[in-house]
Amino acid sequence: MHIDVLTLFPEMFSQVLSASILGRAIEQGYLSVNTYNIRDYSVDKHHRVDDYAFGGGTGLIMMAQPIFDAINAIDPEHTAKRIYLSPQGRVMNDAKARQLSHENRLLLLCGHYEGIDQRVVDTLIDEEVSIGDYVLTGGELPAMVMIDAVARQIKGVLGNENGADDESFANGLLEYPQYTRPSDYNGLPVPEVLLSGHHKNITAWRRKQSVLKTALNRPDLLDKVQLSGDEERMVKELSALQDTDK
Ligand code: ADE
Repeated sequence: MHIDVLTLFPEMFSQVLSASILGRAIEQGYLSVNTYNIRDYSVDKHHRVDDYAFGGGTGLIMMAQPIFDAINAIDPEHTAKRIYLSPQGRVMNDAKARQLSHENRLLLLCGHYEGIDQRVVDTLIDEEVSIGDYVLTGGELPAMVMIDAVARQIKGVLGNENGADDESFANGLLEYPQYTRPSDYNGLPVPEVLLSGHHKNITAWRRKQSVLKTALNRPDLLDKVQLSGDEERMVKELSALQDTDK
């Protein structure tokens, strides 16, 4: 997959793209990323990229011209799926990351200041995507979050082929707790079943922990998961207990 990023702050990306799994994915050719400075496309003699909002308001808006020229230069045939990162977008989730991981090419537009001229979004952008219900100072961190979430879904990037299938959200549930050596850390033991070598019991324990964790932290996810009768009862008991705690 190839990703082009349009930003006013390309220097923010270098560390994130060179370390750890993303760094290795790029080195091994699963992913390539180019960053472009939108300011380089400004025809203003002072390379200005923002201006006041029509209708009033405090913040500055990114102007259409530099972004139009940048996108038309970088993706002239519109072969990339063009995404504008913005708090007004549809909220990204695991399914979205998986879907985007099948694209050949993405173009990510990072906004800054109070947003960008809407004519860019209306004319050039395929999807407006948010990474969550909070507002950041710009689209750079969201773009990095998206690159990470998408890259790790590309086959081969995580190394072990089902690495991304066992984790939170993959089966609609949050992931079960994990432990490593030592089996007793300063008097804190690892749940005994995990040391038993009994795979069926371990699988059953993990499933139960996943259901409990999801019921506790993200009960909204359970609506879309098929639970057994026993699991349904367990979740009901848990929520009754929580109600009496209130
Ligand atoms: N830019 C600022 N806040 C954002 C968010 N939550 N998601 C995507 N882009 C953003």
